[in-house]
Order: sequence, then structure tokens, then C-alpha cells
Amino acid sequence: MKAVILVGGEGIRLRPLTCNTTKAMVPILNMPFLEYLLRYLKEHGIKDVILAMSYLPDRIQERLGDGSELGVHLSYAVEKQPMGTGGAIKNAEVRLNEPFFVLNGDVLTGIDLTAMMSRHRKVKPRVSIALTPVDNPTIYGVVETDASDMVKRFVEKPGLEEVTTNMINAGIYIIEPSVLGYIPPSIPSMVERHLFPLLLEKGEPILSYPSDSYWIDIGTPEKYLKAHHDLLSGEASALAAYWNNFDQGVQMGGSCAIDPSAEIEGPVLIGEGCTVARWAVLKGPAVLGPRCEIDEGACVEGAVLWQDVKVGKRALLRNCIVAANCQIGEESQVLDNCVLGDNVVVGKNNKLAPEIKIWPDKRITSGTMSY
Ligand code: GDD
Ligand code: MG
Repeated sequence: MKAVILVGGEGIRLRPLTCNTTKAMVPILNMPFLEYLLRYLKEHGIKDVILAMSYLPDRIQERLGDGSELGVHLSYAVEKQPMGTGGAIKNAEVRLNEPFFVLNGDVLTGIDLTAMMSRHRKVKPRVSIALTPVDNPTIYGVVETDASDMVKRFVEKPGLEEVTTNMINAGIYIIEPSVLGYIPPSIPSMVERHLFPLLLEKGEPILSYPSDSYWIDIGTPEKYLKAHHDLLSGEASALAAYWNNFDQGVQMGGSCAIDPSAEIEGPVLIGEGCTVARWAVLKGPAVLGPRCEIDEGACVEGAVLWQDVKVGKRALLRNCIVAANCQIGEESQVLDNCVLGDNVVVGKNNKLAPEIKIWPDKRITSGTMSY
């Protein structure tokens, strides 16, 4: 069975984390997001995966190659320009000759793909769409269904007045290849705004697959952080297997040097080669990427740090995201929902928050920034 993963979006809402990294490759618990998706597909017996992409394709190809290290067969369908979700699938059409899965490249979920495919085979619609309940449907695609789970209406990013249900498109489809004839070649189009409404108009059956499995779209910094907190604290425990059974305690990679006076309260994931100096505090849910250095008396709480981050003496990082190679000066504070891109240098005695976003390579001199 084949799957197409849509990884061509620029990840604008996740900036500055996606200035140098595609959304599909941002680390989740120190593993590229796409690697989780491939493990998830493999778990359901889907090993033939086409990555539909346009933005920064080389980064993904260099890292994942033909997929053999992960036990899957990866191929790439690269668009010359972003073709939209529909155009991206159309671009892979020649490789698709039986019902196939399509996954948005930013959904973290345990939706049962095997059961979804059984249902699809039994009911025989042209498309199946997985649904999940959410609090705010307006930022997703809302899907109205009838009593037998057939889709009646699909409205992408509806206004509040158009919201009739909290069940939304979970970004996972099974598509019959014959449907691809409805997608125009060579021009950008979206399955959500064009293909699905068109199929409904033509009376082509679309089946929904409602699920109450854990589900989140990691496409904004708030959701990215929440996904970490959920995985670490056990809210999404069904997904722990994809991270080698992370167990909500303190998990540490090799070659770490942790001073015995440091205080570590799980759930905390510490990447390989990290150092944590005396009197430092790590308070879960938190993640240190590989080779992070936490200096004397510094505190990291509820935060996600990518690789090679240096945290100065008595600095405080709380509920924030700090990308690769950043340096946080002595006594500085980076607080709630603050996001630092790669290579940001924060001098001593700064206070950053809430929700401040700092673009890669910026230098903030000592004591200049506060709120
Ligand atoms: N190859 C390719 N080319 N991929 C694309 C393109 C493109 O031009 N545009 C977007 N994608 C990929 C993105 O990388 C992402 O993985 C996926 O398509 C969905 O795009 P988003 O930009 O993340 O859409 P969204 O989150 O606003 O809405 C979508 O997902 C929701 C669930 O998270 C829609 O499918 C909604 O209906 C859905 O509810
Ligand atoms: Mg999304």
C-alpha cells in the first residue's frame, strides 16, 4: 500500500522555527517530525511512501535518502512551484494505481489507519477522510456528515457562522486513483477547497472516519510546544512507541555530564552529549536537544531546546522554544511562548516574553530587551 505525505508547505505559521528547516523536519522529542510519520505508516504496514514537496526538498532528501534506514521505500515528487495539496497529489499520479493514503505532513496522531482502510474497502467510497473533534473548527476544514458517516459538506476555514460541527478534517485521506481525473494538471489546486467540494457536487461518495485518537496539527509554535507537553506528560501516551517508549521519567542520551547537585524533575528528555552544571534545575515537561549546555544555577522549565543551545548562569527558560545553536546570556529570561530561531544570541540580563519571536542569527545585546 502506498502513501503520499504532503510536505510542501513553507510552514509560515511556525516561523522562526521553519526559517532554515522545513515544517516536516522540525524535531519532536529530538526526532524529525517526518521520521515519526514514517514510523506511524510503517506500523500500519505502509512502506511505500511518496513525499510530495516543493520547499527546501534537498534538506529532506539528504537526511532520509531512500528511506531504507527506517525500513521504508521513499520516493520524491518535487513540484517546480507549490501546487497546493491537490496539485501535489496530481504530481504523483503516475505512481498511484490503487487506493492510497494521503497525510498532511504536520499531523501528530494515532488514528488507526488499518481500521480506516478496512472501512474504506467495505463501504467503497471514492474518498475517505479521517475526522477529529477540536475546540476551534474555524482554523481547519469543517466536515458535515450524515447518520451513516457519509460527507455532506466540506468547508475549509469556515467563518464562525458557518460552523455546524466540531468535527474537522484530520488531514488523513484514502483516495481512489480514478478521482485524480478531477484534479486539473499544471495549475495549483487544493483538495480542501476544490476537489472535495467538486466530488460532493458530482454526487461522488465521500466517507468520513471519525476518530477520538490523540490528534494535533503541530503547525504553530503554541501547538508545537503543546505536542511536546502532551507527549512528555502522557496525554499522548499511545504515541510513545514511536519514540522508543518514552516513559515520562528522565531519559538521557549517551555521554551526558550531569552535576549531582542539579535538580531534575521529569518528564524530561535529555539528548546525547549534554552538560548540566551544578545547581541547575530541569523541570518537566522539557526537552534538551543534543549537546546543550546548561550552566550553573540556570533553570529550564516546560521548554523545548534544539541542539547545541548554551544557557548561561542563572538564566531562566520557561515554556519557550529555542532553536539550534542559540546562546542565552547570564541571568536572562526567555519566557512563555517565546520562540527563538537558530543561532540567536541573547546577551546578559534580558527578559524576553510573552510570545516574542526572534528571527535566526539576531543578537540581542546585554540588558536591552525586557517587557
Ligand atoms: N507538496 C505540497 N505542495 N504540500 C503542500 C502544499 C503544496 O503546495 N501546500 C501545503 N502543503 C502541505 C503542508 O506542508 C502541510 O503538510 C499540508 O499540506 C497541509 O497544509 P497546511 O498549510 O498545514 O494546512 P492547514 O493546517 O491550514 O489545513 C489543513 O490541515 C487541517 C488539519 O491540520 C487542511 O487540510 C484542513 O482541512 C485540515 O483541517
Ligand atoms: Mg497544518
